[in-house]
Amino acid sequence: MEKLIQALPKTELHLHIEGTLEPSLMLELSRKHKVNLPYTNVEEIQKAYNFEDLQSFLDLYYLGASVLVDEDDFYQLMWQYLLKCKEQNIVHTEIMFDPQTHTLRGITFETFMTGFTRAIEDAKQQWGQSSLLIMSFLRHLSEQEAIDTLNAAKPFLKHIKIVGLDSSELGNPPEKFATVFKQAKDLGLLCVAHAGEEGPAEYIWQALNLLHVDRIDHGVRSSEDPKLIETLVKLKMPLTVCPLSNTKLCVFDDMKQHNILDLLNQDVLVTVNSDDPSYFGGYLNENYLALHEALGLTQDQLIAIVKNGFTGSFLPAKDKQYWL
Ligand code: ADE
Ligand code: ZN
Repeated sequence: MEKLIQALPKTELHLHIEGTLEPSLMLELSRKHKVNLPYTNVEEIQKAYNFEDLQSFLDLYYLGASVLVDEDDFYQLMWQYLLKCKEQNIVHTEIMFDPQTHTLRGITFETFMTGFTRAIEDAKQQWGQSSLLIMSFLRHLSEQEAIDTLNAAKPFLKHIKIVGLDSSELGNPPEKFATVFKQAKDLGLLCVAHAGEEGPAEYIWQALNLLHVDRIDHGVRSSEDPKLIETLVKLKMPLTVCPLSNTKLCVFDDMKQHNILDLLNQDVLVTVNSDDPSYFGGYLNENYLALHEALGLTQDQLIAIVKNGFTGSFLPAKDKQYWL
């Protein structure tokens, strides 16, 4: 199974680039920019990665991201992840970034966009890596700040075809962002949103009906609402499920309790992704392997989910057909 997981050409549709910051690079950049962190070595960082919920993770994730300062830092971060894609046979990836995590610290769009796009272009030239960028709004901030972010991104829309919504879910429902998502749609952008990770099924309904999303990130709490499951199946709405993330953040107590295979059996278009691999103990292949070990994911189920990744991607139809 491990060999098949490695050998299959795969997609990754739910990956936060800031969540790929490995402890060694974090320490290196904290020294480079004299950013004070409460860690002195890799072991201390790894020990701190013991989360009880989404917020306890986000606190460390934003702290970690504070070491990213100049264009080369953003290049290195993106480049390391794209090398991982090559290593794990991820032939197409759709990568989220959180501009507000950086602009709030005085880092310009120009700085991170130049670093990101230079790495993406190098990987495309060197081994044909296919990548798209998803600009995510931080939902714990106001809708006006999301609108300001969308406006600041306008000179860079050649490189951004998709917007998303992430950060602290509970208390920040999708409806809070209806106007900015409408503006993004009017600009011709595709839309995704985290919904039903910690938040209730109602947030998934809102993402569908008020934000008109093209894909749901996580969505595992959809299983609490049979009518919603029926709708997701009818719409062929992809869910970007992140198994190791869900167990690390205690959405499920144990991988054996994860509902991804139940959703698959109900014909929901589920995909497997790594979310924030450096914080959750594994990249994409490790997520598939964890499902095999805990839930007995079979070869047929693996292939079905990998195919869902291409179907649920934003690749042009001819590229999807090629991979399917
Ligand atoms: N930002 C990074 N990872 C996230 C997650 N799993 N949920 C919400 N926001 C995030
Ligand atoms: Zn996420």
